[in-house]
Amino acid sequence: MSVGIDVGTRTIKVVELSKSGDKYKLKASGVIGYTGVDPDKLNDEKDFVPIVEALKKLYKEAKIYDKKVSISLPEFQVFTRTVSLPQLTDQEVSSAIKWEAEQYVPIPLSEAILQHQILERRDNNTPPDVLVLLVAAQKSLVEKYVKIVSMAGLNCVGVETELLSIVRSLAPSDQTVLIADIGAKGTDLAISKNGMLVFSRSIPTAGDAFTRAVAQSLGINATQAEQYKRTYGMSKDQLEGKVKQALDPIVRIVGEEIKKAMHFYQSEDKGESPGTLILTGGVTGMPDIVPTLSKILGIEVIIGNPFSKVEVDPKIAQSLQGYYPLYPVAVGLALRGD
Ligand SMILES: Nc1ncnc2c1ncn2[C@@H]1O[C@H](COP(=O)(O)OP(=O)(O)OP(=O)(O)O)[C@@H](O)[C@H]1O
Ligand SMILES: [Mg+2]
Repeated sequence: MSVGIDVGTRTIKVVELSKSGDKYKLKASGVIGYTGVDPDKLNDEKDFVPIVEALKKLYKEAKIYDKKVSISLPEFQVFTRTVSLPQLTDQEVSSAIKWEAEQYVPIPLSEAILQHQILERRDNNTPPDVLVLLVAAQKSLVEKYVKIVSMAGLNCVGVETELLSIVRSLAPSDQTVLIADIGAKGTDLAISKNGMLVFSRSIPTAGDAFTRAVAQSLGINATQAEQYKRTYGMSKDQLEGKVKQALDPIVRIVGEEIKKAMHFYQSEDKGESPGTLILTGGVTGMPDIVPTLSKILGIEVIIGNPFSKVEVDPKIAQSLQGYYPLYPVAVGLALRGD
């Protein structure tokens, strides 16, 4: 059994998978909304309480008994980049990364946790090189999440960044794709090549900003604005298009950032242009967001199915469909098999 927990700013998701051979099967899953905690404001134990309480409740409701769990770190709080090294062996890459990280990572190494992954050995480059993904997080950030998990009576056995998890559950193994997770506080963008994360970026514009725009523009409170956003979204014909008009500039910001990521990847890394955007995160459910983004970007936009690499009981499969956008991080974490 392996369990993945995604602590979002507005919702917490949990997934439990069992493994037989190299196949994974869905055992249990659940989502819980809570008052929400801004990851920037998690300073001491009393700030952790709302998350801990929600997590305990979720665990009970989902009927999960395995106490060993893997968790994700908010993408905007970690540092990720690709580094080109000369053609070294895997072991040499591990030590070279330790020595060279200082020049790439904006956190003092004594306060950082580093992870790396070899993306590609480019034998045909001149000179040939090894492309390595380097991820760094503040030790104190990791400690906070480990503490939250332990306060809920669980034991953290794996930690990684959200986009690494998302790529594991959503990315196809034979294509270059863009992935956007539009959540509550932030939009996380990834480019995945043949199932590997090759580019990542996080921007502070997502569902919460959409709600604020609707509230301000229509002069209504946040609860009502949330409801309007979910009911009318980007639909032109509803409420004389007023909600759409309020949302337009914010959706455009997100769209332009996705475009920038595409162009940056193509120009800096001379990467193949992604032909598809896989969309995920709560905002995916907003009316007409898929065609709107497709129009802005000029590429196909599809809703990601996080269970495509997992066996799911057919009776459960149907009821899960509406929840696809919520599960990629938790499924990806559980697929680590910690
Ligand atoms: N049907 C819908 N239409 C529009 N927005 C929606 C809909 N359902 C959920 N949302 C929005 O999605 C956001 C929550 O998504 P999600 O659960 O992915 O966020 P999170 O993981 O908690 O946040 P983050 O990843 O930013 O920390 C909220 O802003 C919510 O208003
Ligand atoms: Mg999220």
